[in-house]
Amino acid sequence: MRPSPPPRTFRVKSFGCQMNVYDGERMAEMLAQQGISPAPEGEEADLVVLNTCHIREKAAEKVYSDIGRIVKDARREDGTAPLIAVAGCVAQAEGEEIMTRAPAVSMVVGPQAYHRLPGMIADAVEGRRSVDTDMPAETKFDALPARRKVGPSAFLTVQEGCDKFCTYCVVPYTRGAEISRPFSDLVSEAQRLVDAGAREITLLGQNVNAWRDGDGRGLERLIEALAAIPALARIRYTTSHPNDMTDGLIAAHRDVEKLMPFLHLPVQAGNDRVLKAMNRSHTVASYLRVLDQVRAARPDIALSGDFIVGFPGETDAEFEDTLRLVEQVGYAQCFSFKYSPRPGTPAAAMDRQIPMAVMDERLKRLQDALNGTQLAFNRASVGQRCAVLVERQGKQDGQWLGKSPWLQSVHFTGSAAIGDLIEVELTQAGPNSLAGRPV
Ligand code: 5AD
Ligand code: SF4
Repeated sequence: MRPSPPPRTFRVKSFGCQMNVYDGERMAEMLAQQGISPAPEGEEADLVVLNTCHIREKAAEKVYSDIGRIVKDARREDGTAPLIAVAGCVAQAEGEEIMTRAPAVSMVVGPQAYHRLPGMIADAVEGRRSVDTDMPAETKFDALPARRKVGPSAFLTVQEGCDKFCTYCVVPYTRGAEISRPFSDLVSEAQRLVDAGAREITLLGQNVNAWRDGDGRGLERLIEALAAIPALARIRYTTSHPNDMTDGLIAAHRDVEKLMPFLHLPVQAGNDRVLKAMNRSHTVASYLRVLDQVRAARPDIALSGDFIVGFPGETDAEFEDTLRLVEQVGYAQCFSFKYSPRPGTPAAAMDRQIPMAVMDERLKRLQDALNGTQLAFNRASVGQRCAVLVERQGKQDGQWLGKSPWLQSVHFTGSAAIGDLIEVELTQAGPNSLAGRPV
């Protein structure tokens, strides 16, 4: 690789989950602190960071084609090209292979090591390529600069990694073992987010409800501490595992007013044999028991989940069980996916992989069912009064968009500003949003 001038502008492109969004924002802040500016919209950047996701589908292939596109678009007269860094979970999983297959890439950095990017950029400027997929003991969180400007709704990563080893999932391999960030670091980072403009904080983790402080106390302790920050209005958390829903956390849904009535609790399938083959370590009945407890604590809670259709060996009858569960729970929203074999996971080697046409059909039926429960949930909200946290302006004059406590998108017309909590009456419901009228 030839030496190149130090980059003056950067662009971070994040794919996949909210943890990646958070990581992407932190990388951007770090690069800005190094004196590199975000590239203006529509302009080519000197440094492109692809913050990749490996959870489904041909993730790696997509990265290689993105790299190809960057190189092709950047035919500069002086022969220089943008520096390319591959970050995120594909970087962690493919490491050296990316270096071999994509000579245009100068840096490959895993999700636990991106605080070392400045050194890697310095190497790249001198023409040296580098790979860093360590999971170092000194964590990125200690090395990253403080946050300066954030929107009304901010993310805060509190926990990373997963020890559950669901048989379809790459996360335990790409993000490593479960770690919890220390309580005091999190409280001060939350305070800084609030000082920088956040009214709502969403606590993030691959298994956020597995968060523990040094004394073994669970996520409710952190939620209570954040609730004591006066200017913070709302707290959310995602994503959770059913087995880590403790009594204390469930009680927080009753006791902590700032904790929003919304729970994302993936179940993946509605049949016990499939759940066992997935190594989910919960049953349909134990999942429903947790939901009953949460509803007892917070009757208006909105429920959300993740589903996989077409796990190896899933029969038609087993899939029907999933549809039944959906109707029984009445989800407010959900994510649903076709099973995608991930290299190195046990499920990828299982017999009876399901043909794509069958998965397509099942996914369509599941999504129809989920759209139905979602619309029913939204319709049932009509007539209610609630606060909407204003996130942005709408297309029409005087129109604003924001979120209800139940994480529904709500639009209304009136006088407001971004970051306001506006009391509205919900007047109309569609499948994906509601209309409100300020009261
Ligand atoms: N195939 C399809 N969906 C998957 N998920 C995780 N791994 C896979 C896979 N191999 C889904 C799960 C998880 C969500 C984040 O992604 O539903 O909860
Ligand atoms: Fe993946 Fe299962 Fe861990 Fe979720 S709990 S990250 S699906 S292994």
